[in-house]
Amino acid sequence: MHWTAFLTCLLTVSLMNQVSGLETVTGKYGDTVEIPCNNGRFTEEAVPLVKWKYNNDGNILVKNMGQNASISNDENYKNRVSIKNNLGLIIRQVTMADQKTFTCMVVGTADIFEYPVELVIYKVPSQPQITNQTTTMAVGKLTKLAQCRTEGANPAANITWFKNKTPLMADGAAIKITAAVVVDKETGLSATTSDLEYTAVKEDIDASFTCQVQHIRSANMDSSPLIFTVNYPTEKVSLQVVSQGPFNEGDNVTLKCMADGNPPPSSYIFYMKGEKKTVENSNTYTLTNVTRANTGEYKCSLVNNEDMAESVSITVEYLDVALSTAGRISKRLGESFEVTVDVKASGTPQTSWRKGNKDLNRLLKFDKLKYSDSGVYECVVSMAGLKKTQTFELIVQGSPVIKSLTKARDGNKNKVLSCEAEGFPKPTVQWSVNGTDVGETAYVDGKVTYKITIVPKVNLTVSCTVSNALGSVNKSIDVSPHLKNNKSDQTVLAVGIVFGLIVALIVMGLAYWLYMKKFRQGSWKTGEKEDGSAEESKKLEENQSQKADV
Ligand SMILES: *[C@@H]1O[C@H](CO)[C@@H](O)[C@H](O)[C@H]1NC(C)=O
Ligand SMILES: *[C@@H]1O[C@H](CO)[C@@H](O)[C@H](O)[C@H]1NC(C)=O
Ligand SMILES: *[C@@H]1O[C@H](CO)[C@@H](O)[C@H](O)[C@H]1NC(C)=O
Ligand SMILES: *[C@@H]1O[C@H](CO)[C@@H](O)[C@H](O)[C@H]1NC(C)=O
Ligand SMILES: *[C@@H]1O[C@H](CO)[C@@H](O)[C@H](O)[C@H]1NC(C)=O
Ligand SMILES: *[C@@H]1O[C@H](CO)[C@@H](O)[C@H](O)[C@H]1NC(C)=O
Ligand SMILES: *[C@@H]1O[C@H](CO)[C@@H](O)[C@H](O)[C@H]1NC(C)=O
Ligand SMILES: *[C@@H]1O[C@H](CO)[C@@H](O)[C@H](O)[C@H]1NC(C)=O
Repeated sequence: MHWTAFLTCLLTVSLMNQVSGLETVTGKYGDTVEIPCNNGRFTEEAVPLVKWKYNNDGNILVKNMGQNASISNDENYKNRVSIKNNLGLIIRQVTMADQKTFTCMVVGTADIFEYPVELVIYKVPSQPQITNQTTTMAVGKLTKLAQCRTEGANPAANITWFKNKTPLMADGAAIKITAAVVVDKETGLSATTSDLEYTAVKEDIDASFTCQVQHIRSANMDSSPLIFTVNYPTEKVSLQVVSQGPFNEGDNVTLKCMADGNPPPSSYIFYMKGEKKTVENSNTYTLTNVTRANTGEYKCSLVNNEDMAESVSITVEYLDVALSTAGRISKRLGESFEVTVDVKASGTPQTSWRKGNKDLNRLLKFDKLKYSDSGVYECVVSMAGLKKTQTFELIVQGSPVIKSLTKARDGNKNKVLSCEAEGFPKPTVQWSVNGTDVGETAYVDGKVTYKITIVPKVNLTVSCTVSNALGSVNKSIDVSPHLKNNKSDQTVLAVGIVFGLIVALIVMGLAYWLYMKKFRQGSWKTGEKEDGSAEESKKLEENQSQKADV
């Protein structure tokens, strides 16, 4: 080995180092770092003596060629250092105290060379921590929102605040950011704190604030988002009617007062027709069982600012119906009758009349009452969701009349007499003869027909008397026995003819036209001898006269 050539080379390198400035090695706090000696261009076999030292007088170790290194008794390093084959110094668990200049001194045969290296220690900061966070911010008021802190950093970390991903710049008025860096005396590491003071605007309701820690040796670290309640005063009050109108009497109407401030007021004043009512811990007021008197204007306001108010008007619909007639009313047949409807309503009502299932005219007016006009009448008045029904019962009364009294043959000897009566109350019947009652028809529209069957042995005048509470009336009809060309009946027949003659003379004038119409066999007396044909019966039924002879 040629020492001269080697040392010349060393000198050249050393000069080059001086030109390029002090070499720097960066180490991570707590890690093991290697400080190279002349960039590792030596090997231990080529150097007679190497010594590592720090600053001006700190001795770390000395190594002679072919021997193990001798580590000095320096408390700072004796347990943490070793030397590599290329003469590099190994230091374990570096701290901030190791941030200084280490020098590798190489002793040749004729000269001594020194290679100083500066060790720089870095440490990444902790995650951002938020403290002293407030919950609410009032619009327009500078509020300290929170403090953000990061520690254990070298070099010191920076803190930047963001609102909705946009960095916040301190402007000294609406936004104030106070940052401070404190170096720990023991570790030499830096803690950075940043206080954010912020003046909220209404748009900050959903704003998200974050604190970001920035460090030259690590990626940016964001705090979890901070959300604040934004308080702002009421600018507008609104009054709402909760349930949908139209309102009818008896309804409950709920008013709801709302203010757009945050937090909303806990109490409000409601003004109702000159009355003032403060509600606490609620924003509604209910009018129960409203009447038409509740129609009007309603208002609500803030308790502490009565000028902040809104009004709403409420209309309570009503419908009163009164009939000129109520309950049961009795009228006489043929009378005139009219019902008037008196309606008081908040709108335009529709009036209609019904009787049973039938719709009637809108005006209920009778010139001449009939029995069929009796019944229950219903007046229906409706208006916008309201409907009132009033009823009354009309009874048409009249003394009885006999509409007809007829006879008809039924079989060989029977005669069926029908007495048709009309009147109200329902007429009862009384016959002048005993017969077999064969029933009565239904009593409809004041009409009823009573029937009996008789078997006349002689010529008879039968009368039908019908009566009710208002009167009584009778009507008679002649009935002959039924003769079937029986010779033994000649006497009876003769008596009948004489009797019939007398009767016939009495009614001659009255029955003349009918008699003419009915004449068939040259004599009206023979009619009875004929077979009682259906045709004859029919003709008899048609007879409208008080007395009819057959
Ligand atoms: C050098 O150290 C090694 C291990 O520590 C040891 O085995 C060896 O004997 C030492 N050599 C001398 C010359 O002291
Ligand atoms: C929080 O703020 C109070 C005063 O407002 C202060 O005394 C305290 O030290 C703060 N706490 C933190 C962790 O910053
Ligand atoms: C920290 O802030 C300083 C001063 O504003 C700046 O020079 C530096 O680059 C910042 N460091 C990082 C890591 O952002
Ligand atoms: C109105 O309110 C009263 C009392 O709260 C209640 O008893 C009644 O049932 C309500 N009426 C209607 C129509 O809701
Ligand atoms: C509602 O008011 C009417 C008249 O004011 C009254 O007759 C009725 O009893 C009230 N109903 C209730 C449920 O209070
Ligand atoms: C009807 O019959 C009863 C007995 O059943 C009798 O008393 C009465 O006189 C009879 N009337 C006539 C009009 O024949
Ligand atoms: C029939 O009516 C008349 C008067 O209208 C009366 O005189 C007569 O007695 C009545 N006859 C009967 C049987 O009721
Ligand atoms: C009954 O009347 C008829 C006529 O209507 C007459 O021909 C007959 O002779 C009368 N009989 C008796 C017994 O009077």
